[in-house]
Amino acid sequence: MATIAQIKALFESYISKDDERFITYGLQIAAHEAKLGHGKIAEELRRLIDIARKKRDSAESGNTVPLVQPQGELARLLSASYPNTRLSEMILSKEIASRLDRIIQEQRHIEEITAYGLQPRRKFLLIGPPGTGKTMTAFALAGELHLPLFIIRLESIITKYMGETSAKLRMVFDSLQKHRGVYLFDEFDSIGAMRALNNDVGEIRRVLNSFLQFIDHDCSNSMILAATNHPKMLDYALFRRFDDVIEYSLPDNLQISELLKNKLAGFVAENIDYSALAKNAKDLSFAEITRACEDSIKEMIIARKKCVTEQIINQMLQERIRYHSKILNNYNK
Ligand SMILES: Nc1ncnc2c1ncn2[C@@H]1O[C@H](COP(=O)(O)OP(=O)(O)O)[C@@H](O)[C@H]1O
Ligand SMILES: [Mg+2]
Repeated sequence: MATIAQIKALFESYISKDDERFITYGLQIAAHEAKLGHGKIAEELRRLIDIARKKRDSAESGNTVPLVQPQGELARLLSASYPNTRLSEMILSKEIASRLDRIIQEQRHIEEITAYGLQPRRKFLLIGPPGTGKTMTAFALAGELHLPLFIIRLESIITKYMGETSAKLRMVFDSLQKHRGVYLFDEFDSIGAMRALNNDVGEIRRVLNSFLQFIDHDCSNSMILAATNHPKMLDYALFRRFDDVIEYSLPDNLQISELLKNKLAGFVAENIDYSALAKNAKDLSFAEITRACEDSIKEMIIARKKCVTEQIINQMLQERIRYHSKILNNYNK
């Protein structure tokens, strides 16, 4: 017989919807039974685990879960997908990693938490420079929780007419109620782009306020993520509406080394001095370093080299830095 500890672990993984652990514990119990000479039971368990595994794999590839596709007008306002991104693919500071983990745990225990009359955290403001993982976080949260990711097309929502914009926002927030998912208002400071459409600053404020009210009044089970590269454009009233404000920053030397190692794994043969490379990549974002790694691999392919050398990586990083400072200079003029 399986031990009580094994059965308890099995239940815990079931409650927290952790398929991976559920299957692992199942296999451990099967192995335990086999050891005790209960070959038939062990075989039967393995057969059941195989079925569970197949079910999980097809759910992950989106075969059994029908993708909720927004219909009609809503289809112009939202795009839907089921990402496979995992949090483990991200390089995060200890603090952000533990906060995201907390969010995932609370979402996984949503039924028990609400049964106690409490609310899991679900409204987040993500701030920080471009290329630091704000959008990727939305993908990873949806991936970890097996929830659909809905990205709101702000450019379709924001029109010249305040009434129309509010009506569209209402449609999006109705969808939050109907379809549980991760809803990303990416670069939502573009509400400020209304300035180009309409010079009335008061009007922009009204749109922002109406957005805030929708967030405030929302009591769905969905997650709301608002991401911005320009937190200074927002005032304090906005920050208060969110359960958590998560601040992203450019990678430090250790994080750069880790990113380079991850991205170049399998492509570098020689001993690479990652910390020296990291020093040369100062001020670049995760996104820019990722691109430099991809450029290095492409260069290896085109030049028919066997592996990526330290020199190529350095060159690609330097190119990124040059683009980077050129763009910054142009903007600062
Ligand atoms: N923290 C991170 N860890 C690993 N890769 C990252 C991270 N942040 C960004 N990236 C890489 O850069 C790409 C763009 O990042 P993104 O999340 O769109 O940045 P942001 O939304 O903050 O501008 C990602 O798809 C990923 O390849
Ligand atoms: Mg982004």
